[in-house]
Amino acid sequence: MSRFSYRQAVAADAPAIMAVRLAVRENVLSNRTAVTVAATAAYITGPGRGWVAEADGAIIGFSIANRSGLIWALFVRPGWEGRGIGTRLLADCIGWLRGIGVAEAFLDTGAGTRAEGFYRHAGWHESARDGENLVFRRAL
Ligand SMILES: CC(C)(COP(=O)(O)OP(=O)(O)OC[C@H]1O[C@@H](n2cnc3c(N)ncnc32)[C@H](O)[C@@H]1OP(=O)(O)O)[C@@H](O)C(=O)NCCC(=O)NCCS
Repeated sequence: MSRFSYRQAVAADAPAIMAVRLAVRENVLSNRTAVTVAATAAYITGPGRGWVAEADGAIIGFSIANRSGLIWALFVRPGWEGRGIGTRLLADCIGWLRGIGVAEAFLDTGAGTRAEGFYRHAGWHESARDGENLVFRRAL
């Protein structure tokens, strides 16, 4: 049985979500004040939806998708990678997007990061490259 539990994120999760966002070592926020707790809470209750993974009651990963098809965020706390958490959180985004009739998902991520290999492994294809950033797409 999985040691993790998963559920849809609510606005009150925004501080713990931001703590994970600020803990990662790749695809770090270039401007730490650009994404705030308030903006994250507004995002997951407005144009987007989010999901969290928990272990012993603590949030250790999250994903957020926008109804446009954008995977806005997918982050697993360092030390918890490689256990299927990212796969499950991404599947939650994709399931929601499919359910609201979105035909294609897209995202951007840093070239040369673990995430690049993760998305390629999961069948996403690179559609553009802008310096250090790659755009990936996937039909739903
Ligand atoms: C990228 C990230 C979300 C992946 O989450 P994760 O929980 O570690 O991934 P999973 O354990 O679900 O891995 C799923 C599969 O991807 C594979 N994979 C992961 N990284 C890979 C890589 N660099 N190259 C090839 N395959 C890779 C795993 O082997 C696994 O394969 P399997 O299902 O066949 O066994 C996570 O590592 C992370 O948060 N990284 C830091 C932040 C970040 O860069 N986020 C993305 C921002 S766009």
